[in-house]
Amino acid sequence: MTPIDILIMAAGKGTRMKSRTPKVLQRLAGRPLLHHVLDQAAHLQARSAIVITGHGATEVEAATAGLASVAGQYDLKFVRQEPQLGTGHAVQQAVPCLADDGTVVVLSGDVPLTQADTLRALVAASQAGGQLALLTVRLPDPTGYGRILRDGAGQVAGIVEHKDASEAQRAIDEIYSGIMAVPARLLKPWLARLTNHNAQGEYYLTDIVAMAVADGLPVAAHRIDDALQVAGVNSPLQLAELERAHQLRQARALMEQGVRLMDPARFDLRDDARTGVRGQLRCEQDVEIDVGCIFTGAVELGEGVQVGAHCCIANARIAAGAVVHPYTHIDGEKLGASVGAGALVGPFARLRPGAVLGREVHIGNFVEVKNSQLADGAKANHLAYLGDASVGERVNYGAGSITANYDGANKHRTVIEADVHVGSNCVLVAPVTLGAGATVGGGSTITKDVPAGALAVARGKQVAIANWQRPTKQPKP
Ligand code: UD1
Ligand code: CA
Repeated sequence: MTPIDILIMAAGKGTRMKSRTPKVLQRLAGRPLLHHVLDQAAHLQARSAIVITGHGATEVEAATAGLASVAGQYDLKFVRQEPQLGTGHAVQQAVPCLADDGTVVVLSGDVPLTQADTLRALVAASQAGGQLALLTVRLPDPTGYGRILRDGAGQVAGIVEHKDASEAQRAIDEIYSGIMAVPARLLKPWLARLTNHNAQGEYYLTDIVAMAVADGLPVAAHRIDDALQVAGVNSPLQLAELERAHQLRQARALMEQGVRLMDPARFDLRDDARTGVRGQLRCEQDVEIDVGCIFTGAVELGEGVQVGAHCCIANARIAAGAVVHPYTHIDGEKLGASVGAGALVGPFARLRPGAVLGREVHIGNFVEVKNSQLADGAKANHLAYLGDASVGERVNYGAGSITANYDGANKHRTVIEADVHVGSNCVLVAPVTLGAGATVGGGSTITKDVPAGALAVARGKQVAIANWQRPTKQPKP
């Protein structure tokens, strides 16, 4: 087996993105474009990948060195290209890093959706004859691209760049994708012979095609039908188009596993940009997901889980039969969050890191839960906050009640034992424990532990002043 060395061109400016972020770090499904391309190297079982950086090099290298999905898979190197004198010049910079015994696969850092099978077929086309192989596609509008020139027998004869092409050549609709596979021992001497005598005054990598032909070596063209696989990102609109295409692919894959998406065009699964955790949605049987939901990082949905419209769910596990009503926000961040079997959450609920809900728990509208465990059957149905709390089985937590868990310096725990009933609009000042079966009267501010079974009321006594006269308006002097 000939080893594979990947070369990723990522030095260009990406002017049309009009962004401070280098183009190859713009995100598709939460993951930088360049990282999508590096994943392809892993699929090819490459020996090494060399990223050619230029514009924003420091930022690109910092965001990419130490990438978890690369670790242990292949050797990752960066090579700087300053100034940027064309694609041929870019590849020349990598020559000192390229071993002679490998097949070099040239990719672009801004072309994220090439599929592994396509690249494998391209590599096979190169390795079969020990020759240069180009990935090509036919486009209804080939404007701007390099055109594939063929001789009378249909053999590849060269590539002409759009700006250098004649009218007749511009009519050719087969274009070079920017992706090629070539034996390193052939590539190196060709690179040494490149010139910049062309319309753009650049060193064109594509000029090696005519050199191969002049050397009497055949050039393979591996043509695919799916233009999406070679589509690059140059503008925010193109980025959004590729995002939709990528999401549709993910949605279809889930539907093939039996997941019911109300509309595959309104589904998003993203990497967690904060941690780099890959977007992964694992669903048991009979999961239903309504429109407009965004899943981030690792999410698991148990059998029969229903997710209502417009929910955002990140790094969380939802157990069998649970229902997440519309507009619910669940974000486990690094700690995770979990919802027990048969639980009901939302609409408009918020579960934060460390929210652990037992079976049949109910969390209603405008209820926030952070770093708290709620045992089976506990309920907080309206307008409440539970932070740093342990809540026992069957507890009923009233509307508008909160745990005051933060004293301005430290966080403290609230323990609410089984079968406690907390009335409405209570403040539980932590650290505090409510014993099993205790009742807290509405409007109480609880600062001391409540014994099991007791009623605690901590609020101003109600007074009634009979025959109370309201003030009246004084006439103006
Ligand atoms: C290139 C091809 C063209 C092909 C098209 C496909 C050449 C000469 N032309 O055209 O045949 O149809 O891609 O999209 O190769 N880059 C560098 N350093 C440079 C110049 C470019 O790293 O000095 C990088 C860019 O960041 C980009 C890639 O190389 O990732 C391609 O560059 P781009 O300018 O987009 O190539 P085109 O001129 O469009
Ligand atoms: Ca260019």
